[in-house]
Amino acid sequence: MNILKITNVEKSFGDKKIIDRISFSVPENCIYGFIGENGAGKTTTMKMILGLMKIDSGEICVCDKQVSFGQNETNIFIGYLPDVPQFYDYMTPKEYLVLCGNITGMSKKEAGSRADELLELVGLSNANKRIKGFSRGMKQRLGVAQALFNKPKLLICDEPTSALDPLGRKELLDILVKVKNETTVIFSTHILSDVEKICDKIAFLHSGKIVLEGNLDEIKAKNNRSDYVIEFKNQSDMSKFIKAYPTENSDSSLKIVYDKQSEKEILDKMNYMCLNQIAPERIERLEVQLEDLFMEVVAK
Ligand SMILES: Nc1ncnc2c1ncn2[C@@H]1O[C@H](COP(=O)(O)OP(=O)(O)OP(=O)(O)O)[C@@H](O)[C@H]1O
Ligand SMILES: [Mg+2]
Repeated sequence: MNILKITNVEKSFGDKKIIDRISFSVPENCIYGFIGENGAGKTTTMKMILGLMKIDSGEICVCDKQVSFGQNETNIFIGYLPDVPQFYDYMTPKEYLVLCGNITGMSKKEAGSRADELLELVGLSNANKRIKGFSRGMKQRLGVAQALFNKPKLLICDEPTSALDPLGRKELLDILVKVKNETTVIFSTHILSDVEKICDKIAFLHSGKIVLEGNLDEIKAKNNRSDYVIEFKNQSDMSKFIKAYPTENSDSSLKIVYDKQSEKEILDKMNYMCLNQIAPERIERLEVQLEDLFMEVVAK
């Protein structure tokens, strides 16, 4: 089942079309990366999924129910972490989560045990200080805990890692991977290495359109260009090799990248090494990077 289905959605602000007939679906228990540069329309799309912003045309369904602007019926399925989450800074994280539980009608006891469970999940069990003393990473993790409070079927996170350092980003990504078995995650970002680490499926939003969409492994396999890196043990091996196979891709290192190699071309090179007693340090087929794909798609 698709937890989220967006069909031909359009959105303009004044005469500026921000979202131009986009369609994509997010299946259950996957981590979906919603990628786009600054101003691409990621936050706008998320707000439309939440019914907080009106769509001009098209349809959005969450758990097979149509989202309508201003109604919160479909939001019972959703947990939301906004791009800049706000908290009551004078509270401790547990007090804050218990308050969230109380607001949704849970008893204090029930809310307390759910809060403990979630603080454990996001690694804040021992953070007994007030939220005002929290780092950005801790605040984001508390935001995820809050968004997960009511066991949503869909967790929407708007650029959860953008303001975090590498350790903070890793901690947050690890949490998203952990919760994948219980919920479906869609998160927006422009940090492509985060996407490569944890996403099952992706959509690239560019100039209002989805320019690349699908299963990440399949996209990478389809776009694999068979570039190879050859690393040499020493300069003299490399110089000899370059004479036989001239390239402009060499720099001061002992590595050369040969672009778009056919099987025959790379076998030829390996054969030359055997015949000339050049034992390489490494020969490796390079995986296509999302960043390259993004640049290609954007340049079109
Ligand atoms: N309420 C609004 N009124 C007018 N224009 C808006 C409004 N909200 C967003 N926009 C414009 O729509 C475009 C998309 O904005 P949006 O915030 O959705 O982008 P984003 O992909 O989330 O960007 P970022 O990575 O910077 O968060 C921007 O050009 C923005 O200025
Ligand atoms: Mg945004």
